Amino acid sequence: MNKRAVIQSVGHAVPSKVLTNDDLERMVDTSDEWIVQRTGIKERHICQGDEGTGSLALEASREALERSGIPASELDLIVCGTVTGDYIWPSTACMLQTELGANNAGAYDVSAACAGFIYSLGTAAAMIESGHAQNVLVVGADALSKQVDWTDRSTCVLFGDGAAAVVVRGETDTDRGVIETVLMADGSGGKYITYEVGGTKYPVGSPQAEGRRDKVYMAGAEVYRFAVQAMGDACCKVLEKAGMTPDDVDLFVPHQANLRIIESAAKRLGLPDHRVFVNVAKYGNTSGGSIPLGLYEANEQGLLTKGSVVMTVGFGAGLVWGANLIRW
Ligand code: ACO
Repeated sequence: MNKRAVIQSVGHAVPSKVLTNDDLERMVDTSDEWIVQRTGIKERHICQGDEGTGSLALEASREALERSGIPASELDLIVCGTVTGDYIWPSTACMLQTELGANNAGAYDVSAACAGFIYSLGTAAAMIESGHAQNVLVVGADALSKQVDWTDRSTCVLFGDGAAAVVVRGETDTDRGVIETVLMADGSGGKYITYEVGGTKYPVGSPQAEGRRDKVYMAGAEVYRFAVQAMGDACCKVLEKAGMTPDDVDLFVPHQANLRIIESAAKRLGLPDHRVFVNVAKYGNTSGGSIPLGLYEANEQGLLTKGSVVMTVGFGAGLVWGANLIRW
């Protein structure tokens, strides 16, 4: 029988500092009413001081590993979905490798913004199914609070920081594990969510960087239109690949960017509220952390049991989008 990539455990981490909509009212020209009505977000967790993507990813990874019972030395791969690593390079995954003592693991980051965990889990599953890896740590982590413009009300109210991680193991004689993955991209929409300065086109402090964006820029309305279409499309495609229908899905864990986007995807799929996981009110959009954080909380709340069918879906800067279908 073929090898399946089965999730063994989930860990998570969010900063202790909570920033509420009331706090934001004192920082920019906005209101709790506007933010809740347009996005469903009430508060978010924000890094302070030395906290960042690396520290969150490490805490989440430690919890996931401890819960899995698999020692770090038995990991053969670490994949981290992030666009806000502590450094442009080396990768966050390599930092995790050394801090965890995963001395037999390869490690790399995946740059797929808010779809980072979906891309990372899909990659990990392929490595396991093809026999290239047995035990893989998959992390989704971002700290966009470090990159947003805190004077721009159109973006700063949307994001929060967070990370979560899963340990995935290859198993045979089971129907559990990642069933199917769909990964999609449209680079022509890259201009709609950007962070321009800091790469090799506009290096920090260079003449080329002058006048370029050194904070997160987002064309909200364009991204909104894309997201509504992309979420539904990716779900339909992953279900079709698996020969399943929305009726087969026990729990839908979508990227938590905006409640209205989640509701419109759920409506298109005909999924009732009790099969849709939502925690956007507490965390805002934590980018790569969003979907695994949803899996973590759903699991803690007893919404996921062995054999449950979970569908994840996400979209983000790139543009990228995709979905995983998992038997828990
Ligand atoms: N408070 C009050 N008013 C605001 C705020 C705010 N925080 N932000 C914008 N406004 C104003 C605008 O200036 C505009 O005013 P105007 O009509 O006078 O020009 C008005 O509110 C309406 O703005 P819209 O852009 O039409 O608002 P919309 O209903 O589209 O909601 C939002 C904006 C929430 C950003 C929405 O477009 C959205 O969710 N887009 C998708 C974002 C997303 O999910 N990104 C995820 C990817 S991020 C990544 O990959 C890292």
